[in-house]
This record gives sequence, structure tokens and C-alpha cells, in this order.
Amino acid sequence: MHIDILTLFPDMYNGIFAHSILKRSQEKQLFSVSLHNIRDYSTDKHHKVDDYPYSGEPGMVMKIEPIAACIEKLKQEREYDEVIFLTPEGEVFNQGMANFLSMKNNLLLLCGHYKGIDERIRELFITKEISIGDYVLSGGELAAAVICDALVRLIPGVLNDEISALSDSFQYGLLSAPVYTRPYNFRGHTVPDILLSGNEKLITEWKLQKAIERTQKNRPDLIEED
Ligand code: ADE
Repeated sequence: MHIDILTLFPDMYNGIFAHSILKRSQEKQLFSVSLHNIRDYSTDKHHKVDDYPYSGEPGMVMKIEPIAACIEKLKQEREYDEVIFLTPEGEVFNQGMANFLSMKNNLLLLCGHYKGIDERIRELFITKEISIGDYVLSGGELAAAVICDALVRLIPGVLNDEISALSDSFQYGLLSAPVYTRPYNFRGHTVPDILLSGNEKLITEWKLQKAIERTQKNRPDLIEED
């Protein structure tokens, strides 16, 4: 999978792709990412990327020309499965969407800033709008990073133990069960003995029960929806 991120702040990604699973996925050549500074596509002598809205309300709007130039150039190099705009007005991202997008080859993620982007960008180029939650961030950069992380770990071969992605929270509509490691006893808090029993059937039943209890407590909406 290749992801192109269009942003006014490429330096915000310093480090994000250089660690952990995002790093390992690139080393294994299962994932690659390119950052594109929208400002580089402004033909304005001051490299202006925003302007006042026509309606006269406060706040600046991201201009159409630099974004269009960047998207059009990239589209000559790649065929995109989706051209995605990160915005609080988008469809709310979830594990189902992550599964769906993780099967794609080429994605373009456009990060907005200021009061928004010229609406004609949406009309001309955007195939999907995604929000990472019902709150407003100062830009789409962190949302794009969240989406990259969620997708990349689902690409077959990225995680050493593929089963561990399958047992993630949400993958079966439930939060995941508690996990423990040594020591057995920490300040009187011991590991549930069933996990030491070696009885796989009982352990599986216990994990399901705990996953249901945790989901009922923290996210009852996940169970009620079904
Ligand atoms: N940009 C600003 N807020 C956002 C959000 N919640 N999700 C995605 N992009 C955003």
C-alpha cells in the first residue's frame, strides 16, 4: 500500500513513520508513504495557500489552485482507490472502515486547515470524507496519522503474529479481553488462575466473557447496535 499525504505541515510527521509498526511495514516493503507540502504547489509569489471566504465570515479558506495542482500531478503518477479529505464533517472512522481501506493499494489523504477548503475541491477530487471523532482538531494531520496507523497494522504480513490483529478490540464488535504477563503476583493482585490452567477451551470462554463484560461497561452502544 502507498499513501500520499497532502499537508501544509509535513514536519508534523517527523518521527511518526520512523517507529514501531509503521517503520517495520516500510522495511518489509508492505507500506510506503510520501508527504507533499501543499505550499510548494502555490504559484503565488508569497506561496499563499489561503484566502478570505466569499461570504465575509471570519477565518481563512484553503485555496483551490495549489491543492488541485498537487492532486492532479499525483494522479498522473498513480491511480487512487480513494482520495480522502480529513474533516470533522466526514463519516466517522471505525474498524470496519479501517478493514475496508487496508485492502486498497493507493490512497491520497488531504489534510485541511483554517476554516476549511474551497468546496470545489470536494466536488472535483474527493471520493471520501473521514472524521476521526466528534471533536475539532486544528488540522487533518493527526487524523491522517491515526488512519495510517490503523490501516497499516491490518495489511497482511505487517504484524508478526497476524492473529494479534484479529483479536484487536472492535474486530469482532467487542472490546478485547484483559491480558497479563509476569509477575503472577503484583502487590497481592494475582493473575486469574484460569489463564494458567492450560485448558484452551475454558480460557477462550473466559476471554469472551471478559470481553463482553468490558464492552457492556465501557461501550454498551456496541452491543445494543447488534
Ligand atoms: N480535522 C479537524 N478535525 C478533524 C477530525 N475530527 N477528524 C478528521 N479531520 C479533522
